[in-house]
Amino acid sequence: MKFFVDTADIDDIKEMAATGLLDGVTTNPSLIAKSGRDFMEVTKEICGLTDGPVSAEVVALDHETMMKEAEVLRKIADNVCIKVPLTIDGLKTCKALTNDGTMVNVTLCFSANQALLAAKAGATFVSPFVGRHDDNGFDGMELIEDIRLIYDNYDFETEILVASIRHATHVLQSAKIGADVATMPPAVIKALFKHVLTDKGIEGFMADWAKTGQTILR
Ligand code: E4P
Repeated sequence: MKFFVDTADIDDIKEMAATGLLDGVTTNPSLIAKSGRDFMEVTKEICGLTDGPVSAEVVALDHETMMKEAEVLRKIADNVCIKVPLTIDGLKTCKALTNDGTMVNVTLCFSANQALLAAKAGATFVSPFVGRHDDNGFDGMELIEDIRLIYDNYDFETEILVASIRHATHVLQSAKIGADVATMPPAVIKALFKHVLTDKGIEGFMADWAKTGQTILR
């Protein structure tokens, strides 16, 4: 499973990239606003921190303006992935852009039927929002299972990019279902490394090693 980080914070992205485990970045208008940076400038900087796809979202709601915005965004770097909302205009834009070889992430997906439409529109990625789905009394993971089943039934190549991840269990469940990508806030990626027994084990080994009085680097 690919790991994307869901942020526009440069320091967080650099930290995640340094682990060697980062496969891409997702942003959205809220994350850009949170960064306090100029959209074009920060997106260009992010694109230089990873070879993987960097999702940059259009803000127009009509197809013609989305196409114009996508034209501007895709000039930022070769690894820009245009993010469009799951609407009729968004999917028209998705079809036109992917026909032209541009990567597209279809965002704000909340049903398996919507994911089916995104795949038919040739989306590179579809982003089901599991956290917001859970928040509203639905089962985000059931949605991922349904999309996986449908995509496998028809050999769709669209990658399932699990978004709106809130905790490590969402990541585990996504991996068990066979989702292609998880985009996570930096805190969730860090939480994946943690286990109380790992910390306790290190503590014990360090204490015993100190008793030997030895060093490895001599
Ligand atoms: C990523 O592409 C999405 O925009 C993001 O995961 C949404 O997460 P949220 O529901 O925590 O805002």
